[in-house]
Amino acid sequence: MQLRTIGGRSVSAIGLGGMPMSIEGRPDRERSIATIHAALDAGVTLIDTADAYHQFADEVGHNEELIAEALRTYGADTSGVLVATKGGHLRPGDGSWTKDGRPEYLKEAVKASAKRLGVDAIGLYQFHRPDPNVPYGDSVGAIRDLLDDGVIELAGISNANPDQIRQANDILGGRLASVQNQFSPRFRSSLPELELCAELGIAFLPWSPLGGISLARSGELGADFSAFQEVADAHGVSPFRVTLAWELALAPVVVPIPGASRPESITDSAQATELTLSADEVARLSAA
Ligand SMILES: NC(=O)c1ccc[n+]([C@@H]2O[C@H](COP(=O)([O-])OP(=O)(O)OC[C@H]3O[C@@H](n4cnc5c(N)ncnc54)[C@H](OP(=O)(O)O)[C@@H]3O)[C@@H](O)[C@H]2O)c1
Repeated sequence: MQLRTIGGRSVSAIGLGGMPMSIEGRPDRERSIATIHAALDAGVTLIDTADAYHQFADEVGHNEELIAEALRTYGADTSGVLVATKGGHLRPGDGSWTKDGRPEYLKEAVKASAKRLGVDAIGLYQFHRPDPNVPYGDSVGAIRDLLDDGVIELAGISNANPDQIRQANDILGGRLASVQNQFSPRFRSSLPELELCAELGIAFLPWSPLGGISLARSGELGADFSAFQEVADAHGVSPFRVTLAWELALAPVVVPIPGASRPESITDSAQATELTLSADEVARLSAA
């Protein structure tokens, strides 16, 4: 497994995204645990989650609890696994997503996440999404306080534009470890943020790196983006693997976090780190 760095910490170049195991369409608990264990078997040492990865109002932190259980029951040392969670996004239970970026809210939410994850300090805590009702600097200021107080070990942000990335990194005194934005063959408008992270040496975690749960599960990724299917055929691998290898090739700071609810999905995705694309292939996929 190829390794990359988040805030000075070494992690697998491909992480596991936990969301499909906890929102609508999720599998049963047993299959979720098997999926997380398959990721660990494949050498994955980064797992992305959020307190908001749940379906019903009374099960906040469903995904964090699943991950904690899977790590506990793995049967081997998991101390090298970085669990990255998030706060500031909420699910009231009607299918919608709301925001709360108030410092006092974030400081309570992080405590609840740490308790569910069973840790004293959260490995990587990411401010999930800017709240238009709260100045961005106030929300990030809370994350800085959590870092200063040792409540979290690394700080990240998500769904941020270039100005917010620079502002957050300033507020954090240059300690912004990661930016998590949507990026895939079908959603490329975060390329300026990816490039800024490469320039600043900040990890960039593409979310929905395979185009999102619906597109990925439909099996249409290769049909919608034929160049990815053609390169996949040339290498005898899945278009999912090619997509992740292409993202890895864009910059050394990129660490994709493909979601999975089946062991086979993450086992296949993790092997993207062993797939080397030629410069011509990368250019072709970037232009596709
Ligand atoms: N920060 C944010 O605002 C934000 C927003 C959305 C997502 N995220 C994070 O990003 C992660 C990834 O995004 P996502 O889950 O929305 O979408 P995604 O990674 O683009 O697609 C996930 C789906 O792809 C399928 N898949 C993955 N690898 C595969 C493979 N090798 N072969 C076949 N199918 C494969 C999985 O199917 P199966 O379910 O059948 O295994 C899974 O449901 C999330 O899990 C979450 O951690 C963050």
